Amino acid sequence: MGKKNRRRIKITGTGFYVPDKVLTNFDLEKIVDTTDEWIVARTGIKERRIASEDKAVSDLAIEASWITLKNAGLKVEDIDLIIMATSTPDTIFPSTACWVQKGLGADHIPAFDISAGCTGFLYGMILAEGLILSGINKRILLIGGELLTKVTNWKDRNTCVLFGDAAGAVILEESDDGSGMLSYYWKADGNLGNLLFQPAGGSRIPATAQSVAQDLHCLQMKGNEVFKHAVKRMGEAALVALKKAGLTREEVDYLIPHQANIRIIEATGRRLNLPPEKVYSNIHKYGNVSVATIPIALHELNEAGKFKKDTIIVMDAFGAGFTWAAVVYQW
Ligand code: UT7
Repeated sequence: MGKKNRRRIKITGTGFYVPDKVLTNFDLEKIVDTTDEWIVARTGIKERRIASEDKAVSDLAIEASWITLKNAGLKVEDIDLIIMATSTPDTIFPSTACWVQKGLGADHIPAFDISAGCTGFLYGMILAEGLILSGINKRILLIGGELLTKVTNWKDRNTCVLFGDAAGAVILEESDDGSGMLSYYWKADGNLGNLLFQPAGGSRIPATAQSVAQDLHCLQMKGNEVFKHAVKRMGEAALVALKKAGLTREEVDYLIPHQANIRIIEATGRRLNLPPEKVYSNIHKYGNVSVATIPIALHELNEAGKFKKDTIIVMDAFGAGFTWAAVVYQW
């Protein structure tokens, strides 16, 4: 358990935002050759939220930030850094964090993006720990936001049924009571990058009429390959992070796995020997919203009053890169 003499960072506010518009599996049946039955059985997803055409990811992130600041009882002036994790930025440059900063009117502070696929939120927490404990920052707004439906290939049934739009955020600052982040584990393997990627739009394949005609600006994924790696790596990451925290699987109160597929979520729960009620899932409501899945789950559990003093939480993610990470946290 967290020792009082070790410096830690803790979460002092949570919140999230999802667009109102719901896209159900039945809606998707009219777009591609799929069925509600297949999607539920193979992924656990029933519906997802979809942003309107005029929105960019910063719009979702700004909404999530206002809600999170309000929940924390803070004003914009109280934060001293914005970190935005996303794979679907408004623009490649400026960073989405700068668009968010503009929207919040937070021009007194620095802001930048991190790109680590679906693992970006946990990478952000680990980065924030370094910045806060080294004295560089005092109170960080960390946002995970994604507008995946704008990079979705609506002709590809293998991927278009999986993703949604959302943003979640937390406030991070130094803990004064021994609670907070106990340990972490993070890794990447760039050799497997092309199993889940957006081929065009960067300097490798800039936009051309041909790249657009070939749908290269849309997300591509070899689903079953990614699936196997995700199950293996998420299990490993959680166990290593728990060991680093000096905790056993039995001491875990909640596992918050990245929400990519109910079968990956359940497999990770089994790897930790956890009963289903300790393994959080909301994938049926939102689909895979990448880097936003963990902050949304944190807020939902927090708001439902599930986190008591000393509740042990394991956050666990896997995504494009490949990247994967786990964070052990004591509430
Ligand atoms: O967030 C980052 C990490 N992402 C992930 O972790 C995603 C990991 N991957 C997955 O979640 C799963 O691999 C998928 C849900 C994407 C696919 O499930 P699967 O059980 O791996 O299916 P599959 O790709 O092996 O396809 C099985 C069959 C195929 O048909 P045949 O070749 O057996 O005739 C597909 O064509 O299911 C077919 N299929 C569909 N059928 C109906 C694929 N997509 C659909 C669909 N509706 N939407």
